[in-house]
Amino acid sequence: MGKPQLSVNHVTGIKELSREDIFLIFETANEFKQVINRPIKKVPSLRDITIANLFFEDSTRTKLSFELAEKRLSADVINFSASSSSVKKGETLIDTVNNILYMKVDMIVMRHPSPGAPHLLAKHVNANIVNAGDGTHEHPTQALLDTFSIYQHFNGEIKGKKVVIVGDIMHSRVALSNIYAMQKLGMEVMVCGPSTLIPKYFHELGVLVENNVQKALEWCDVANILRIQLERQQIRYFPSLREYAMYFGVNRQRLDNLSKNILIMHPGPINRGIEITSDVADSEHSIILEQVENGVAVRMAVLYLLASTRK
Ligand code: CP
Repeated sequence: MGKPQLSVNHVTGIKELSREDIFLIFETANEFKQVINRPIKKVPSLRDITIANLFFEDSTRTKLSFELAEKRLSADVINFSASSSSVKKGETLIDTVNNILYMKVDMIVMRHPSPGAPHLLAKHVNANIVNAGDGTHEHPTQALLDTFSIYQHFNGEIKGKKVVIVGDIMHSRVALSNIYAMQKLGMEVMVCGPSTLIPKYFHELGVLVENNVQKALEWCDVANILRIQLERQQIRYFPSLREYAMYFGVNRQRLDNLSKNILIMHPGPINRGIEITSDVADSEHSIILEQVENGVAVRMAVLYLLASTRK
């Protein structure tokens, strides 16, 4: 029997991954986490593989994390940023990518503002595609690193764990990917925020909906707190950021009012004092920086397993 493999050639979304795929990524990430904590942090696994990181939208964590993961695996890496490219002269996505592929690129990691852009690429180009965030749709490697962090924290005992996702659910690709991943792993999911920022179709995803943040925090084992994405909001969904912080912000007082300790997560970037206060983000309950460390190991696992599917 050969080595276990992913059931997909591309990681475009959590929706397309099976539960077995997710656990295979966790097992592999666990091994790579040990590698990146050794004095020599590099392995030759992706020698002779060339990966292009195409970022059509801003990023700090995801871009650096993928680049580091690729370098730790000894891949050759090229970076593309739309803001300094010929996209500004009117070149289409498919033309841009086909030109890059003719430079003999094997895998593409792409962040794009349009939902479905990585799925379109996967149909039209001969390379493994990894979605690094497509508009308000999915951010699969973020959900993998979030659930891997929960899995590690609870020593694998995650079935039935209750997770609340608090914040701007409507504009968040992290929320949708988290919901798909957590449900596949048997966790219970609640979303919490102003009604105006919770799409009506979310009721059909099998998640609980709560508008009172104190009640939501009392219900959960884990709170994943999201930023208000003002850059995606053309209209006002709530009166002011000050009012949002007052009604939905997670602060020390709200944690102190709970009958138990809960785990605090945030995918970043954080807007301190709005969705979360510093005394919560930097508290002993927070695993925000562990999420960042796990991100490199999880992305190494995704790239390594996708490369294994190449003929
Ligand atoms: N979590 C996340 O996607 O952060 P960046 O936008 O900085 O990549």
